[in-house]
Amino acid sequence: MKRLIPLILLALTACSRNPSVVLDPGGPHARVTAGLFWLFIAVNGVIWGMVLGVLGWSLFLNRVRETMAPIEPGALSERRLRLWVGIAIGATVLVLSFFVGASFVTDKQLIDFDRDPQLAIEVTGHQWWWEARYAGPLPSDSFVTANEIHVPVHTKVKLVLRSNDVIHSVWLPNLAGKRDVIPGHAADLVIEADRPGVWQGRCAEFCGLEHAYMNLVVVAEPRAQFDAWLVHQREPAVTPSAAEVVRGQQVFASGPCAMCHTIRTPDATGYSTNAPDLTHLMSRQTIGAGAAPNTTGYLAGWIIDPHGIKPGVHMPTIQQNSADYQALLAYLGTLK
Ligand code: CUA
Repeated sequence: MKRLIPLILLALTACSRNPSVVLDPGGPHARVTAGLFWLFIAVNGVIWGMVLGVLGWSLFLNRVRETMAPIEPGALSERRLRLWVGIAIGATVLVLSFFVGASFVTDKQLIDFDRDPQLAIEVTGHQWWWEARYAGPLPSDSFVTANEIHVPVHTKVKLVLRSNDVIHSVWLPNLAGKRDVIPGHAADLVIEADRPGVWQGRCAEFCGLEHAYMNLVVVAEPRAQFDAWLVHQREPAVTPSAAEVVRGQQVFASGPCAMCHTIRTPDATGYSTNAPDLTHLMSRQTIGAGAAPNTTGYLAGWIIDPHGIKPGVHMPTIQQNSADYQALLAYLGTLK
């Protein structure tokens, strides 16, 4: 039993509640890729079954003819052998050609899907978070968010990919394949969700210490809901009125936070590209690109000791007196 434990543990590593699997397609790109996968599995499964069948049959024959003399290949069996080898080679060539053809057709379908995207989002990889920029019809309609993108369902969305530092790779298994994000090299990835849902994506190219916490969430929602999200994200942060929240805003604006982060207010617009934009921080699910859930408790821990949650993160530990710290937390909590 003891010897079996490592084996059981190894088998259990495949059990995960993480829904980011290629075989749960949420859109046409992933669906055709999954279709190709199942085709390979079906054809190879049939071949595997046939090989095992022939093996079992020959073992059975050997068992009943226990007194069988060693086989002397005569003229007849030599001819039969040649025939069977010929059939096997022919079948192999046929199956391989079929697979190449099926891959080609799938590739063509994927290229066709990518034509005429209806929406573009600029996604920039940073160590270790994703910046997402939505452009609008007017410059004032543009806004930046981080680590979580919203898309409308049944819409081809082109992710225009950039890197700010090293090579990253976007992987959204339920929606599309992987695309490397190389500094100085333009790349894009078209995704389309055909049902509402929340899909996990991740960086798939080792990019440094916190590569494992460089997640990208895609929230696909009906058009009306997406439009409402867009309108809300374009708005500046609420102007605080409560005394503690006003103080928190001052702590943010006059302290080290504002050196990297931006919170758009009616009189201070602009984007931050050094660190995630916090204008609507509380509308996001996680902090630190998936390092922790976005709750007041984790947020408090994150500000006091970001390295305790995400070792190596570029955010420094910030010393603050407790009143300022509470005020800052209160202010961040209003950024819905
Ligand atoms: Cu970015 Cu791995």
